[in-house]
Amino acid sequence: MRKPFIAGNWKMHNGIRETKEFFARFLGMYLDSSEVDVAIAPVFTAIEAAKNACKGRRVYIGAQNMHMEDKGAFTGEIAPGMLKELDVDFVILGHSERRHIFGETNNTIALKLKKAVLEGLLPIFCVGETLQERENEKTETILREQLDTAFNNLDAKEVSRVIVAYEPVWAIGTGETATPRIAGDAHIFIRNRIKELYNAVAAEDMRILYGGSVKPANARELLSVPDIDGALIGGASLQPDSFAEIIKISLEG
Ligand code: 13P
Repeated sequence: MRKPFIAGNWKMHNGIRETKEFFARFLGMYLDSSEVDVAIAPVFTAIEAAKNACKGRRVYIGAQNMHMEDKGAFTGEIAPGMLKELDVDFVILGHSERRHIFGETNNTIALKLKKAVLEGLLPIFCVGETLQERENEKTETILREQLDTAFNNLDAKEVSRVIVAYEPVWAIGTGETATPRIAGDAHIFIRNRIKELYNAVAAEDMRILYGGSVKPANARELLSVPDIDGALIGGASLQPDSFAEIIKISLEG
């Protein structure tokens, strides 16, 4: 059985003060449960405040990106070791905003993924097609390229330390959610590809999250799809009550 993983990606929202305010409210509503993994990725500058707020509670705190080198002349970047100093639990890699706004390629993301695994940082590795790619029936080709390039350098043991997030680009921040059928089909495709690249156990164990306009109103139907193992949530993770509600829904199944 795969334990649900419910993660908030705060993107460029919530500084230190707002992070403290969020957790003051959220931790009052959220009852720690060993049946679900709950995670938040704040901006870099608020990670420490989030870690402090969640001391002794079952909430993982992570980063939204990292560089693959240990140090060097990479203005504006952050190294894995620097994140580890903050004791982060996971790192989001290959988010579509990193790919499309900041030009990250499948190859760079593959290097970051390998580095995160070697450093013991749990990666949430994002894949997903654009609207145009879906309309041109390229969804599976795109997902295969993203998965194959990223996993090219990982063995079966390493891949067991990765979480995949399927985030169709057309559903991110648009209010348009993939139907459970569309999301479920993509998740099955991803799981089958992992089976082809590795083995049945790796595929069966892999947690695959859905992301793209997840909110309390649609979380139940999405999370009840057998191959959807959790959610990566943008907008709805900024409100303590809606994030707590989605966590509650994930425990129903
Ligand atoms: P929204 O939930 O705001 O659509 O964002 C999804 C996302 O990109 C999470 O990483």
